[in-house]
Amino acid sequence: MPDITLIEADGTEHGFEAPDGVSVMQAATGFGVPGILADCGGQASCGTCHVFVDPAWADRLPPPEPHERLVLETTAVPATPTSRLSCQIRLSPALQGLVLRLPDRQV
Ligand code: FES
Repeated sequence: MPDITLIEADGTEHGFEAPDGVSVMQAATGFGVPGILADCGGQASCGTCHVFVDPAWADRLPPPEPHERLVLETTAVPATPTSRLSCQIRLSPALQGLVLRLPDRQV
């Protein structure tokens, strides 16, 4: 059950624990963290669950699939090299302590 920290664009931090196997998007929306719209429900097609992975964690996640890379080209706030779709990050014990930042808008 990893501890996750999501930081809003204004610096507000949200820390929570989430079960293994769920996506960051599912966990964050379940805990009421604002700033993730997830319009497609986790189908990796809307780009409204965009997050920036903290640089300290960027190399510890599996790389995005080609389809995810394409969707990241459509996000409201331009993607950076550490951008991910939070619906495509599955939580596991290896992600204990994961830190992510939210863009200031998703649309
Ligand atoms: Fe739509 Fe992640 S929820 S791309």
